[in-house]
Amino acid sequence: MRPAVVLASGYAVIDERRLNKHTLAPSLIALVSALAAAAACGGTSVTTVSGTTADGGTDDGSAACDPAPCATDDAGAGAGFDTPTICTSGKNWSRGDLGSASMHPGRACITCHDQSIQAPSFTIAGTVFPTAHEPDDCNGASGTTSGAQIVITDANGKVTKIAVNSVGSFYSQGSFALPFRAKVVVGTRERAMFASQKTGDCNACHTETGDNSAPGRIVLP
Ligand code: HEC
Ligand code: HEC
Repeated sequence: MRPAVVLASGYAVIDERRLNKHTLAPSLIALVSALAAAAACGGTSVTTVSGTTADGGTDDGSAACDPAPCATDDAGAGAGFDTPTICTSGKNWSRGDLGSASMHPGRACITCHDQSIQAPSFTIAGTVFPTAHEPDDCNGASGTTSGAQIVITDANGKVTKIAVNSVGSFYSQGSFALPFRAKVVVGTRERAMFASQKTGDCNACHTETGDNSAPGRIVLP
């Protein structure tokens, strides 16, 4: 029961912080909050901790959305999006377009690879960072130390886990029915994207400042 509460409330907390920064219209805030609450209570997060209860929805939902545990968990939640621009690792890619799994962290991998005959074709690729606004070519959050994974659920419900490498990057040549859902998972913690997407070039939207309404970088949970 307890892990479900942590997951679900972390989800809501992250959403609030994003809304603070982007100051959306009140009606949209209400809508997104309602969606966040629905996601927290509806069973999506709960079912990821499978085995906690058979009837996941109702019982876990009311516990997860109780204001007291949500407020308590807020203090321990991961990074928000209202943070300065910084290259946390202090390390940068400096070898140009030399083919490597650690090349150009933060840049739109697939956009560039699609223009090159030598570069492999990826269906999913991107970079996870420790904070929300990190520059291109700055090494991201090492997945070899944290064990971070990207979990893709495609339109057919097929779930694929993709490892995050030592500079925070991840990539796959698998085939995915569109649109897909994505989240970053470290142990029992996760950050999920509400929207489903039709392009796997994660860094094309998750730029330093965020494009196409993305809040910034993909951040560790
Ligand atoms: C500006 C263009 C550009 C960007 C951005 C870029 N790549 Fe590449 N990548 C290339 C090119 C060109 C090659 C092929 C180089 C070669 O064959 O020498 C390549 C090759 C690779 C390879 C194969 C390496 C090997 O040993 O054969 C991997 C893995 C890779 N890129 C991952 C990524 C990832 C992950 C990202 C995003 C975080 C990324 N690339 C971003 C241009 C780019
Ligand atoms: C077309 C643009 C776009 C692409 C491509 C995209 N995202 Fe997103 N992402 C967004 C937007 C917009 C949001 C904020 C709204 C939401 O959560 O749906 C977001 C939110 C997220 C979040 C939640 C952020 C938080 O902590 O609240 C994660 C995690 C995430 N994306 C991961 C990914 C991954 C992994 C990929 C690639 C497989 C990806 N995204 C591709 C636009 C995109």
